[in-house]
Amino acid sequence: MKLTRTADLWWKNAIIYCLDVETFRDANGDGVGDFRGLAQQVDYLDRLGVTCVWLMPFFPTPDRDDGYDIIDFYNVDPRLGTLGDFVEFTRTARDRGIRVIADLVVNHTSDRHPWFQESRASLDSPYRDWYVWQDEPPADGPHGVVFPDKEHSLWTRDDETGQYYLHRFYKHQPDLNVANPAVREEIARIMGFWMTLGLSGFRVDAVPFLLETSGQDDAGALPDPHEYLADLRQFMTRRDGEAVLLGEVNLPYPDAMPFFGDADGTGDELTMCFDFIGMQSMYLSLARRDAGPLARALRERPPPPRDGHWATFVRNHDELTLDRLTEEERQEVFAAFGPEKEMRLYGRGLRRRLPPMLDGDARRIKMVYSLLFSLPGTPVLFYGEEIGMGEDLGNEGRLAVRTPMQWTAGPGGGFSQADPERFPARPVPGAYGPEHVNVAAQARDRDSLLSWVRMLAERYRECPEFAWGRYEVLDVGEPGVLAHRCDTGDGLGDGMSDGVKVVLHNLTDREVRVELPLADMDEGCELADLLVDGTTRVSADGTASLSLDAYACRWLRARRADPSR
Ligand code: NOJ
Repeated sequence: MKLTRTADLWWKNAIIYCLDVETFRDANGDGVGDFRGLAQQVDYLDRLGVTCVWLMPFFPTPDRDDGYDIIDFYNVDPRLGTLGDFVEFTRTARDRGIRVIADLVVNHTSDRHPWFQESRASLDSPYRDWYVWQDEPPADGPHGVVFPDKEHSLWTRDDETGQYYLHRFYKHQPDLNVANPAVREEIARIMGFWMTLGLSGFRVDAVPFLLETSGQDDAGALPDPHEYLADLRQFMTRRDGEAVLLGEVNLPYPDAMPFFGDADGTGDELTMCFDFIGMQSMYLSLARRDAGPLARALRERPPPPRDGHWATFVRNHDELTLDRLTEEERQEVFAAFGPEKEMRLYGRGLRRRLPPMLDGDARRIKMVYSLLFSLPGTPVLFYGEEIGMGEDLGNEGRLAVRTPMQWTAGPGGGFSQADPERFPARPVPGAYGPEHVNVAAQARDRDSLLSWVRMLAERYRECPEFAWGRYEVLDVGEPGVLAHRCDTGDGLGDGMSDGVKVVLHNLTDREVRVELPLADMDEGCELADLLVDGTTRVSADGTASLSLDAYACRWLRARRADPSR
């Protein structure tokens, strides 16, 4: 008999919060966010309900891809603080029960990394084989430029030796050669180093590209890439049994599943994969005001291995990619949420945050975050989502959504005392600027988005069914409503109990009535609202009739009705 009801799978009902130290809070007044500033905000994160912080890259970098171009994997970028400040932060977070994970960006390095400098110097450099070099770009090599606005090829000729090197991303980010055992050892050392300093795991950047080995000379002789991922997981787990790998795998479900490893067992590769398909389907559903696409994704989504989980998200630091939709579907989402050309990126995504896309409609924005917290999966928030920050389209490309966190009203938005000219990016101008959207004001307002997100976080943690239960999408006869039910199967033996949650989201802008099919319930049962006051009786035929205002959401707990009423 396997033990499954213990509390050690913390990631299953975690609330993950992604932030960039550089833009979160500046303590030393130089205009750049730092670890000391972040440490001062740990109580804020705790009150929000965050249980795990995901740090975007904070390593020394020439900053040509916002830190995803690293020149030293064993240090903190001096602009952000010191290793000592990093440890103080993780220590402070842990004190509030908050774990910390960080980006593991080892598909590539910066071209200024000493390894690449050595590697490019000569054909017989000891570091030559740390990167992928070829005399000519191979015909059977990988395909698909990720940043088509800047790059036209995955291979760039280097004048030093006349050979070409592989770069999945920008040409200043040469790909490391994971087929080389020395590189694999080094990656493990990097992980071990940061775990010793306090990390509880990693968000693994660009996993399919990291494991890709096509186009390499001795491809036939390479180890199975999935074996390598399982090796990394084993290594990490030996160091810390509760550490996690959260992987960026933007692939259709059947292609993403192998990255969990051992799908019928507990999972032995990535602990969690982002649900990119669910996210994109959600936007199509929002654009159409039709729950169909999201319901289909939820029905098609394979269950993760027993100890694994999907990670759900509304936005992240990159463009809102719509690359898995059909061209027609993508155009529908563009028309609804990115009508201007400057809002779009690479022809496949939107460089916007949610509130401006929804024209600031508070009911609709709140409904989307209710989806995030109640859909099965671990919710991942991108900093500023909890207060409804907007984007700055004046910034280049993906930087539109990476503006300073807005703590207070006023010119610097409470991010820093320095002249905003010195900030990594200016605060968002206009209607979503700090004077209109900030933590201080929303913390005092019970109707604010911040208060709403705090409540959702609290309810989500009180409802283990979302994290641990089986789920089912219910047919309620109204295309604009997504209804789902989460069930831990812990019933009292009478077919219902506290182990059942039913959730409804009205994606339309009109009031609707729905009939909930609850075949295992009868007139002795009722549904208690968890977000507002209210109770709905179940009828003798096992249905419940409810009305939903425009963009309403209801979280319902099934329970036995009080016979005295
Ligand atoms: C994926 C990251 O999310 C993105 O921001 C970055 O530019 C690329 N990987 C390259 O590291």
